[in-house]
This record gives sequence, structure tokens and C-alpha cells, in this order.
Amino acid sequence: MFQQKFPSRPIWLDESDGKIRIIDQRRLPGELVISELNTVDDVISAIKKMMVRGAPLIGVTGAYGVYLAFGENQAAADYKAAAGRASLIKAARPTAVNLAWAVDRTLEKAGQAPPEKRAEAARLEASAIAGLEAENSRNIGRYGLPLIESIAEKKPGKPVNILTHCNAGWLACIEEGTATAPIYAAHRHGIPVHVWVDETRPLNQGARLTAWELGAAGVAHTVITDNAGGHLMQKGLVDIVIVGTDRTTYTGDVANKIGTYLKALAARDNNIAFYVALPSSTFDWHLGDGVSEIPIEERDPDEVRYMPGFEKTRENLLMPEGSAAANYAFDVTPARLVTGFITERGICRAEEEAIRQLFSKSGLNRKSPENS
Ligand code: MRU
Repeated sequence: MFQQKFPSRPIWLDESDGKIRIIDQRRLPGELVISELNTVDDVISAIKKMMVRGAPLIGVTGAYGVYLAFGENQAAADYKAAAGRASLIKAARPTAVNLAWAVDRTLEKAGQAPPEKRAEAARLEASAIAGLEAENSRNIGRYGLPLIESIAEKKPGKPVNILTHCNAGWLACIEEGTATAPIYAAHRHGIPVHVWVDETRPLNQGARLTAWELGAAGVAHTVITDNAGGHLMQKGLVDIVIVGTDRTTYTGDVANKIGTYLKALAARDNNIAFYVALPSSTFDWHLGDGVSEIPIEERDPDEVRYMPGFEKTRENLLMPEGSAAANYAFDVTPARLVTGFITERGICRAEEEAIRQLFSKSGLNRKSPENS
């Protein structure tokens, strides 16, 4: 499909020329377009326009943005100026907490270095966060695998049917993804899996990106309309739901792509396990009530009004010209509807006590499951 060799990560610092490059995800699956991020404004724009998207990835992109901010202010190694730029990066998208987490962490590391070393310290930290997220995904896969294995044991010879929403794959993370990591692990272990991929209107991250990723990995999948999940669950065609998240409160409420909540309701009504896969960088340790406290991004209504993938022309307008459209990008699934979290440290219930037991504040995101 693609003439060029496909990059293995959605963002990378190119050793050959020191430039930060990204896959422009707006153009997938039709075209592989690689863009450079040379300035803080490039970073902000790439995040806002969703050239890069997905919680862990926008975190890593933001971290590289801090590196660029120090580069821009290198003459004075001006920490205050760079911190001001960093706050603009954090404001690029409001819902995924990974963005602020990664930006703050990188800023802090740079601030600890002498002025002439700040840009380098930020660059190293951004690369370290990318590596950490890749490792987190691998561990999420390892911990999620037994969930799929145990379903497979109960239906020998038949595929395990997994429903997912949006794209929580490697394009949204760095490698392996979150929701997709246990699926890839199961596939590699020879367990027959089949994935129901919600198309995920209006930007079709499921149809465009998840389906493309799964296809490239040889994982059986079927794209469905966003409203089909409940029907498939009633018919016994879904064994487990696994989704990602953009921000999860310490009490277990989950913000994810709009439509996730409805899948959780349908799963509960049909007694189907609903798991959320996340690295600890997606926990918000300050918020307790997701429904009232997590900021929900509202995007340009034109993303709803027009058929995606086409230039805006009268023919591709989906509704009467005068109709209003609203574009809520995320919703919140209350903890009570979540069966459990698959994290880099293991699986836990969606309850404050269980979450806190798994993650102590100190050393967060640092330890691998073996030595936690
Ligand atoms: O608007 P997007 O495409 O950035 O939304 C992404 C999602 O909702 C993902 O499910 C979430 O970031 C988890 S990615 C591991």
C-alpha cells in the first residue's frame, strides 16, 4: 500500500539530522505523510489538528515541544520563557491528562539542569518518556493476555470476539498501544481473536486507524458503525470490550472517545466484561469525580457536519445547511460500569483503594511490574 518504509513509531527524533518527525494521522490509511515539528507552534498545531492524537502520543509530542521551547530560547536558556511556551502546549487539547503530565515532567527535568544544558535535558526526558510509554504498552499486553486466554479456553476452536472503540493502538501510543496490546499479545500466542472495530465518528479513528493497524498485523477484524455494538452484544457476538482512556480519575471514572459510555452501558446490560487499558500517565491523581470534573473537549462542528476525508463541498455536507451541530470529543464512563483496569503494573478493580494499592504516588510509572 505504501511506497515508503512505514515508521515503527508515530513520532521519533531522527538521529540523522536531529529533527522530530511524526506520521500525519489525518492522512491514514490512504497516504503516508511524514511531517517535521521544528517549532513549538508546529507542536501545538499538530496536536490541535490531530496530526498526532491519542493520549500517550500527545504527551510525548508535548514533551518534545518543551525541548523545542528551550531550543527557541537557547540564547538566554530562558526557563521562564520556555515555561510560558510549555503552558501553551498544555492547552492545545484539554481532555488527555498525559499532555500536561509529560510537559510538566520534561519542564521539571530541564529546570534541574544548568541553563546551557536545559534543551538537552528536555530532549533526553522526552525520549525517555517515549521509551517508558512503549514499555508500559508491552506490560499492558502481558497483563491483559490472560483475560483473553481464559475466554479462549472456554470456547475452543472459536475466535475470541473483542470490541474496541476509537484507536488505542500504537499510533495513539508509541508501540503496541493500550487496548490493542493484549490483542496483539494474544495474536502472537496463536489465540484466535477477532476484533469489532467501532468506526468512531466523526473522525473515524476506528475505521481509518485501528482497522489499518490490525490489518497490517494480520489480526482478523470487522469495522462496525458506532451504534452496532449493543446489537452484537445482545446476540452473544462480543466476549469482552477493551478500550483506552484519555484521563482516568483516582476513583476510576474514565474519559475516553465519545461513545465509550454507551458501550459500557450496553456491556453491563449484557453481562459482558468492560476493561479499560491504560498506562499510569493517564491517571489524574487530582480528580475524584470524572463526570463533573474532567474537561471535555468540544471540537469544530464542521467535523460532524461534513463527510470526513473530503474537502468541504456542498455535496459532502451531511445535514441541512442551517442545522446546528455539536462535536463533543469525549465522554465519561463512571467507575461502576468498568470491570477493571489493565495497567503496566497489573490488573485492578476500578476503585480508589485498588488503584492506590497498585500505584503508590512515589515512583509512579517508573517501576516495571517485576519490581513493583
Ligand atoms: O481524539 P483522539 O483520537 O485523540 O482520542 C483518542 C482516544 O480516545 C483514545 O482511546 C485514547 O487516547 C486512548 S489512546 C491509548
